Amino acid sequence: MSLKPSPSPSRRSILTAGTLAAALATQSHAAPAPPRRVGGEGAAPFLWGAAIAGHQVEGNNVASDIWLLEQVRPTLFREPSGDACDSFERWREDLQIVRSLDLNAYRFSVEWSRIEPAEGQVSRAALDHYRRIVLACREAGLAPVVTLSHFTSPRWFAAKGGWFHPDAPATFARHAERVIRHLGEGVSHVVTFNEPNLQLLGEWGRTPDPVVRQTMADMLAAAARASGSDRFSLMNTGDAAAMVAPVLEAHRLARQAIKGIRPDLPVGMTIALPDDQAVGPDSRLEDKRATVYAPFFAQARHDDFLGVQTYSRSLIGSDGPLPVPEGADRTQMGDELYPQAIGGSIRYAHAQTGRPILVTENGLATEDDALRARFIPAATAAVIAARDEGVPVIGYLHWSLLDNFEWFAGYGPKFGLVSVDRTTFERTVKPSARVLAGIARRDLSR
Ligand code: BGC
Repeated sequence: MSLKPSPSPSRRSILTAGTLAAALATQSHAAPAPPRRVGGEGAAPFLWGAAIAGHQVEGNNVASDIWLLEQVRPTLFREPSGDACDSFERWREDLQIVRSLDLNAYRFSVEWSRIEPAEGQVSRAALDHYRRIVLACREAGLAPVVTLSHFTSPRWFAAKGGWFHPDAPATFARHAERVIRHLGEGVSHVVTFNEPNLQLLGEWGRTPDPVVRQTMADMLAAAARASGSDRFSLMNTGDAAAMVAPVLEAHRLARQAIKGIRPDLPVGMTIALPDDQAVGPDSRLEDKRATVYAPFFAQARHDDFLGVQTYSRSLIGSDGPLPVPEGADRTQMGDELYPQAIGGSIRYAHAQTGRPILVTENGLATEDDALRARFIPAATAAVIAARDEGVPVIGYLHWSLLDNFEWFAGYGPKFGLVSVDRTTFERTVKPSARVLAGIARRDLSR
């Protein structure tokens, strides 16, 4: 376990906690408008966009596992997600902002616990809600990149043992099939799992903090009791190594189910991937790679794309991860400010898998938007340089569209291109969003 709920914990430690890492149905709807053109005639559009995830923006996601963990005592969450950004109601406004920035892609996640709040009880209204978002994206010329699992799952699923339950892969595949059947042909790309390697990444080479480990165990026990169960297990909690196999099996079954409905739909997963750099002749870099990424790369070779999520670099010495270099600028999450990291990580991910790479997240937490406005040109230049070298990068989705609920760290860290007033939910587009818009516009009109 590596979560340290300290004032300046590292981003990964906040997310992983060493255990918690931290057109309606396929029936008729108008043919989707293609995403706004990018590149020359006939070229597949490069996806320029922004990303969000359901639990972090929707608000009142009361049937989810993480909602419960926010409520029990003890909890590792700094504050509950509450209304979040009220995006379950205000999603049209969010889409309108993405459109106004001339971006052509939008990544969001569907909340399984809204779709299936009790096992076997499917909410048609919730499925319709997400289908309306897909349709509205298409009408706005945005490619909808849909994530099926962005850390959260329904509370009933966690109380049955989560990914460790023998039926979990098949249960998830049924959910995936239901969602894709209902959301229809408008979906552009599907991400089955968001960062299923996050806990492995957070724990690798680190000694668990005994206090955090105990608090995590107590929080999960309290959630189990509150659910009338003797267990409560969710993504990136518990035995990280043991969770790899069932999650990859769930990915494969979900992929198969999706392909059965839409063989043309690109399916992949995303991984947390810093730009790892070896320091010294005895660096444990290769050990890290074998433990944290290799099983996921092996699967990705059979997928249509791999989503890469990079926030900084990581220096690896002979004893494991090294601290951020002295004097380096840091983000609110404690990461080294290192925008060029994304260039190294996408080259590496492609070299390992041979698959197209979609940057599904990249960004930084800062109150200083001028810093974000400088980060974006540097990061996107690194992506474009890799693409120019021949790495098949198919898009760049900035994290995040909105200042949102940053898991254990609550509403402290500011990742958004757009700020959200915590009382009125009023959105204000930050200058950095215009910087991204300008880069996308120039690239799309080349
Ligand atoms: C996650 C997001 C998170 C972001 C910033 C990624 O690991 O997918 O949910 O908000 O990093 O920490």
